[in-house]
Amino acid sequence: MKFDPTDLAVKDMYKLLSGSVVPRPIAWVSSISTDGVQNLAPFSFFTVASRNPAMLCISIGPGVGEREGTIKDTLTNIRDQKEFVINIVSTPLGNAMQKSAGNLPNHIDEFEEAGLTPVDSEKVLPKRVKESPIQMECKLHEIINLGTDHLIIGQLLLYHIDESFYLEDYKVNLEKLRPLGRLAGNYSENKDFFTLPK
Ligand SMILES: Cc1cc2nc3c(=O)[nH]c(=O)nc-3n(C[C@H](O)[C@H](O)[C@H](O)COP(=O)(O)O)c2cc1C
Repeated sequence: MKFDPTDLAVKDMYKLLSGSVVPRPIAWVSSISTDGVQNLAPFSFFTVASRNPAMLCISIGPGVGEREGTIKDTLTNIRDQKEFVINIVSTPLGNAMQKSAGNLPNHIDEFEEAGLTPVDSEKVLPKRVKESPIQMECKLHEIINLGTDHLIIGQLLLYHIDESFYLEDYKVNLEKLRPLGRLAGNYSENKDFFTLPK
């Protein structure tokens, strides 16, 4: 079978993409509004954008459903403040992460809503999620408008890792991290690790 994106409804192409580019890591993004309200939301259109300088990117789509026609708070906040933190989601944090994806009014502190502990960042205003084993403080490098979506590229300013997840020589203990993967509407736990023969 084959599908030409120009023949498909947007939602159908999206379903094919999100079911094919899998599993995706989840950037749990903290940002802060100009009024000082802390915001937290997951984004699985997420990867490393550059190794030197270290940069990460997420793609933010338009509001859907009851938020049709609106701009996501994360995009507004990053546009205004030019800073954010990417927290990595381990499997035990799945339920809290899901809660923070709800359509909450922008005056609600999503840390509080999801029962999470905010900790001060060192180089940016948005707080880090204490419960997350890896937190990356970023400053905005560029926002690229791509059709209906916005690609946010951030430069890494400070990388934090809970010592108990750190192996020697800059390696992360993935068995312990149990990174949560986003599939289509569902999730995978990444816990079976192996190398392939050369
Ligand atoms: C696991 C997961 C991954 C998501 N990935 C994305 C994404 O990559 N891009 C996007 O625009 N929305 C994504 N969403 C939806 C946003 O998290 C959701 O729209 C959220 O309410 C935005 O919050 P905000 O308005 O506080 O920014 C995802 C939701 C979940 C649960």
